Parts: sequence; structure tokens; C-alpha cells
Amino acid sequence: MTAVARRAVLLGGAAVAAGGVVAGAVALTPGPPPVAVPVPGAETVAFHGAHQAGITTPAQAHAVFTALDLRRGSGPDDVARLLRMLTDDAARLTSGRPPLEASDPELPALPSRLTVTFGFGPGLFDAVGRGGECPAVLRELPAFATDRLDPRWSGGDLLVQVCSDDPMPLSYALRRLVRSARSVATVRWTQRGFGPARGSEPAGTTPRNLMGQRDGTANPAPGAELDDAVWVREGPDWLRGGSMLVLRRIRMELDTWDDFGREGKHMAVARRLDTGAPVTGGGEFDEVDPRMVDGRGIPIAIGGAHVLRATARDPAERMLRRGYSFDDGPTADGLPDAGLLFAAYQADAARAFVPVQQRLAESDVMNQWITHVGSATFVIPPGCAPGGMIGEALLG
Ligand code: HEM
Repeated sequence: MTAVARRAVLLGGAAVAAGGVVAGAVALTPGPPPVAVPVPGAETVAFHGAHQAGITTPAQAHAVFTALDLRRGSGPDDVARLLRMLTDDAARLTSGRPPLEASDPELPALPSRLTVTFGFGPGLFDAVGRGGECPAVLRELPAFATDRLDPRWSGGDLLVQVCSDDPMPLSYALRRLVRSARSVATVRWTQRGFGPARGSEPAGTTPRNLMGQRDGTANPAPGAELDDAVWVREGPDWLRGGSMLVLRRIRMELDTWDDFGREGKHMAVARRLDTGAPVTGGGEFDEVDPRMVDGRGIPIAIGGAHVLRATARDPAERMLRRGYSFDDGPTADGLPDAGLLFAAYQADAARAFVPVQQRLAESDVMNQWITHVGSATFVIPPGCAPGGMIGEALLG
């Protein structure tokens, strides 16, 4: 390791030891004396803590979701070995260090707020002999009338979610994590997503999706509201402090959307494209008023508008939507192949995602342009302390 690389690694480590999200400094010019220049790439997000990172962490620009399947015959010891290894790798990578035994410290040195989040699918519970404890809603979501699910994007025993503002450390982290896992697990699917580049708009601006909408406006506000929606407060040790993830791959019919008139686009959601503000007036963070009528007494927001159908009718329906766009197109015919990796985190998917999606499947103007083509559900176990292991309470 060169002196410069060692210095970068040490600084990355120091940022994490401080326990928060800290902008570090990295020596960029070779030769003594090194000039320390603060770079956003050195910023880290603490891996350890009561909750896993990568959920209430402000969304990074890039994400990859990979579902692994345990090899046939894997038992509790194999799963524990796997999780111990992955936890150690993730703790190192997110602090800007390579995994144990890796000889290339340059690649992970600028993590750019890298987070690694693990989720457990029903098959993992079965493999460790705790199948009966997997929440029923995660073993099988109800079928929704509008579903067109492809097994290619569905299911999985173990989710590895990696997010970063930079696709370089993200790529390295994923390949090292999968390498550590592959004696015990195979890769079932990988889905890559992106949001706006970091810094393209002021921090805290609601990102746009590929339909051009500001998406995430009505998410629970950071703090108590968000924590109440996302984290499990009661129940078994292995779940308390954790969450539940419903990941849906939703294809968008962008060709027909692009041809649709602008006013119609506003009406489909009941929010404006430019500002994200309700069509009934006010600013982005105001609610749509379903009672407001025009001069002829006709409601301004149509009843089937996405927001009116989706809004929580009970606090238990609240969820954090932290989705990423995907774009695998164009197809050979020159058509878009794109959409949203819709990722909803909530304390109880049976009381949040399920009733909300039931309403949307029943009626939502947006259904003309969106189709759910993949579905995967995971328990997000709580976080762990340094030296601990994700899932330690489940694996005893
Ligand atoms: C490609 C699919 C989807 C698109 C493009 C989309 C887009 C939007 C947009 C533009 C908004 C308004 C701004 C905001 O508050 O974020 C919104 C709100 C919302 N969406 Fe979606 N959405 C999609 C799928 C879903 C799904 C599958 C669910 C849940 C099952 C959902 C639940 C919600 C909720 C809860 C709100 C906030 C409603 C409120 O104002 O309280 N969305 N969505």
C-alpha cells in the first residue's frame, strides 16, 4: 500500500470512528508533503448501529439490489458463517477499507456514502430451522389484480442492497460481497437503479422519477414520523429495530406517457410536474385537497388520482418509499425498457404496503402506464454493534 493510499484509508476509518456522516479528506497529489483536499467521495455512513444503514439514510445516487439463494442443503452453520463474513466485509467496505484478504485498497477508498443493507427472505428462515417465524406477509404477498410478475425479478433468500453516490465503489462492494457469499449461495437476480446525480440539485430536493414527477414528497418526515413508520418496535429480538422491505419492479410505459398531455399528467397524480405541488394549490409539501371544486362545482383532483388512492388512511399504512429508477432500454424496436425499482420500508407490510397496493390495483389512473413485473419481500434485521453480526439474534 502506498503512503497516500494508507492515508486515505486511515482518514476513511477516522470518519467512521466518529460515528456519523462526516466529510473526510484525502491526499490527492503524490509525493511529500501530501496536500489534503476534502472530497465528497471520502464521505462515509456508519455501518454499525441499532438499525441498518441504507434505509433512512438520505438516498444515494446509485443502488443495486441482489437476491441470493442459499445452496441446497445449507443449514444454520452455513448461514451464520455467511452472515459473519458479509457483515465483516460490509463494515470494512462502508468505511473505505477493502475486505479482509483483498489486496486492492484503492477501489473502496472513496466510498461516497456507501451503505450495505441485508434482508432475509423466507428461504433463509427455513434454512436456519425458524421457518414458522417468518412473517406470513413476507412468505407470500397477496396477488393483486394488476400484477404481471416475472419469476426472473421475484423472490430470494438473502437480499444484498448496496447504495452509493458513486457507481465505482458500489460495483467493487457488490463483487466482493458476492464473492464472499458464493460458496454458500447463488445469485438469483440483480437489479440496478439510479436517481439524480449527487449535487445536481440542492441536498434535500425531492428526486424525480423517469416520468418526470417529483417522487417522495409525502414520505414521512425524518425524525419520529419516519422512525415510527419504518422500524419494528415490538416482537422478537431478531426483528425489533428492523423493518420490512417490499421491492417491486414496476415497468413504465414511457412511450405512451411521453405522448400524453401535460395537464393529464398532472391529473393522473393530482400533483404538478414542475413543482410537485398539488393541483388544488399550495406548495410541494401541502396535501392535495380532494374537496376543492372548480367554477362548475367539479372536483379539481379526480378521485382515481394516484395520490388520493395511495395516501395513508391509518397511521399503520405509512411507509418510506426509497425507490430507484431503472433503464435497461432501448429495446431492439427502439422502445423504452424502464421504470421504477419501488422499495417500500415499513414496520409491518401487512398493514402498510398490502392495503395501499390493494387500493391502487383496484383503481389508480397511473395504472395505464405502470405494471408490476417483479416482487420480492424481505425482513430487514436490526443493525449490529462493532464485532457483531447482522442476524445474530435469529441465528443465536
Ligand atoms: C411506477 C410506479 C409509481 C409511480 C411513478 C409513483 C409516483 C408517485 C408520485 C409522483 C407521487 C406524488 C409525490 C409523492 O408524494 O411522492 C406518489 C405518491 C405516493 N405513492 Fe406512488 N408511485 C408509484 C407506485 C406506488 C406504489 C406501488 C405505492 C404503494 C403501494 C405507492 C404509494 C404512494 C404513496 C403512499 C404516496 C403518497 C401519498 C400521499 O400524498 O400521502 N406508489 N407516487
